[in-house]
Amino acid sequence: MRFALYGQLADEFGTPLWVIDEEKIRTNYRKLKKALRANYEKIKLYYAMKANSSLSVLRILRKEGACVDTASPGEVLLALRAGFSPSQLMFTAPNVRNEELRFLLDRGIKINVDSLSELRRLLKIGIPDFISVRVNPGVGAGCHPYDVLGGKGSKFGLSKEKALEAYEVAKHSGITRYGLHMHIGSGILSVKPFLKAGRKLLELAKEAHQGGIEFEQIDFGGGIGIPYKPEENEIDIEDFSAEFLGLFKQKIEEYGLGSPTFAMEPGRCIVGNAAVLLTRVNTIKNTSSKKFVGVDAGFNTLIRPALYRAYHDIVLEKSAEPSERCDVVGPLCEASDFLALDRNLPKVEEGDLLVVKNAGAYGFSMSSPYISRPRAAEVLVKGDRYELIREREGVADLLRHQRIASWLE
Ligand code: LLP
Repeated sequence: MRFALYGQLADEFGTPLWVIDEEKIRTNYRKLKKALRANYEKIKLYYAMKANSSLSVLRILRKEGACVDTASPGEVLLALRAGFSPSQLMFTAPNVRNEELRFLLDRGIKINVDSLSELRRLLKIGIPDFISVRVNPGVGAGCHPYDVLGGKGSKFGLSKEKALEAYEVAKHSGITRYGLHMHIGSGILSVKPFLKAGRKLLELAKEAHQGGIEFEQIDFGGGIGIPYKPEENEIDIEDFSAEFLGLFKQKIEEYGLGSPTFAMEPGRCIVGNAAVLLTRVNTIKNTSSKKFVGVDAGFNTLIRPALYRAYHDIVLEKSAEPSERCDVVGPLCEASDFLALDRNLPKVEEGDLLVVKNAGAYGFSMSSPYISRPRAAEVLVKGDRYELIREREGVADLLRHQRIASWLE
């Protein structure tokens, strides 16, 4: 833990502050890529930029040779600004509007359609070269019910029957290049759900192939988790690769699918452990029932604890053993405004700097200016070098885009 550096950065740039470690992003990406490549030649990784869409993070991953999975026109524009070419981008989102489909078609971005409605509306606008269908393989998994995106009751993807219909529709429209897609959830720490869902996806690929569809790419989505809690273990990525690609290779051969690209869309496992959130203690409040540690980051800054009851390890420089149970709470006027509940920490005092770990995925990207608290700044660190990569928002950002109605003047 780089406490000296964190202290220096907090003094220089203020808190709350996101600190991103470039080397960790590179290491995570390389490790995954290498493990997958060890078992199959044609691997493509589309970084799911919803996890962290900072331009510098995107640029690092472009330099590593990644492609990007986008989910809004805004994400597409950011990825292009970071230097990706449209051919390196894919778009996967539910309930896409016609203007957005036109935007994607105009730029030649590969689309994973999420419904027959979307496909039909797309084909009325234009005929893309490539189309991929997002399938709900009937299997879901994730670290919280809100992180489970496949299985019964999920709004995402098409059933097998509807997906086969989609390929028929696409074929008749003259589309010639095809992909197949699933994304079953997020924060998965075992290969089992991937194998179960992957088997279903590949069975569907077989049926579509029998109907005349040649797959250029089969995309198994994101979802690889990271350990957040002390008792959780990292997924062994070499084992994951051997098992998952073992299944893939066996099935593409058995079903005569040729040699499609094996694609994944990792987000969390690339950036999750690559950033910390620094937050300063301003208030200590002891009540008859609890000690509250009041900090300057609430769910406006890191919403995962409030929204998913997510656990983020919190450390402070004091070397003392954890000795006090406390709630770490933010500056918002809501009971759900906590970073940690009933957490054992060394004796925390006003002015202490807390380091919230594993905050790189779905941290800044889910932050908001709720209660008119401008969003925090970001710093990129590489060894001993550091640079501000996102300025702290200010009052001007709160005032931008709004005006008082003319009749109220
Ligand atoms: N591909 C698609 C189509 C996705 O929807 C997602 C994430 C990913 C890839 C990347 O999944 P990952 O590798 O990061 O698990 N905000 C939640 C996570 C929501 C995930 C949404 N989809 C959280 O903080 O736990």
